[in-house]
Amino acid sequence: MSENKKHSPIIIAMTGASGAPYALRLIQRLAQQNIQLHLLISDAARVVLQQESEFNLSSNLDDMAKEIADFTGVDASLLTCWGNKDWMSPVASGSADMQDMVVVPCSMGSLARIATGASSNLIERATDVMLKERKNLVLVLRETPLSEIHLGHMYNLSKMGVRIIPAMPGFYHQPKSIDDLVDFMVDRILDHLNVDDGANIRWGSKE
Ligand SMILES: Cc1cc2nc3c(=O)[nH]c(=O)nc-3n(C[C@H](O)[C@H](O)[C@H](O)COP(=O)(O)O)c2cc1C
Repeated sequence: MSENKKHSPIIIAMTGASGAPYALRLIQRLAQQNIQLHLLISDAARVVLQQESEFNLSSNLDDMAKEIADFTGVDASLLTCWGNKDWMSPVASGSADMQDMVVVPCSMGSLARIATGASSNLIERATDVMLKERKNLVLVLRETPLSEIHLGHMYNLSKMGVRIIPAMPGFYHQPKSIDDLVDFMVDRILDHLNVDDGANIRWGSKE
């Protein structure tokens, strides 16, 4: 949609929680809007990705971008992959002025390190930058049940303005497939990135 053409680049980090299909679909829907994406993928996320989608991602960063583009059917030139220790990446510095970052799926381990500012890899450094610069940070968390440790971290981050979006698809829109459940979550994430691709199902709309 034309209104999204000038959307600034978005950082998408995948960590090792269950929910790789949410990330792949989010990448697809954002890239279809011609939005440039910076992709960060933890080692555990690769394992989960293979388990959940039988997608065996290469370790070479250029190949990685092409493989994700092929898998999702989008233009590879919109995707830039960064390594876990790629401190020269623009996402590592506040001066790059990135506006939006999503961690999807977000593991409890990454949650803890984000909440405590551990910054031991590029994902945590990038989230730390978003926090210090007061930019839009969205965490799509997944674990069940949740301990007081998890809940405490979520509460503290929420008080700082972080958008806590648990991967909890609803059933009130009568999903017919797993894709419908995935899109339910991706619709919610897109709302918090101010991206409207026209496919978002909204309660109360006539269609
Ligand atoms: C198949 C699979 C599913 C997992 N699901 C979850 C999950 O839903 N939530 C979670 O917090 N950790 C989950 N884990 C464990 C994390 O991957 C593990 O804690 C890892 O250290 C997280 O590292 P990262 O945050 O750097 O990606 C899962 C691991 C595997 C292999």
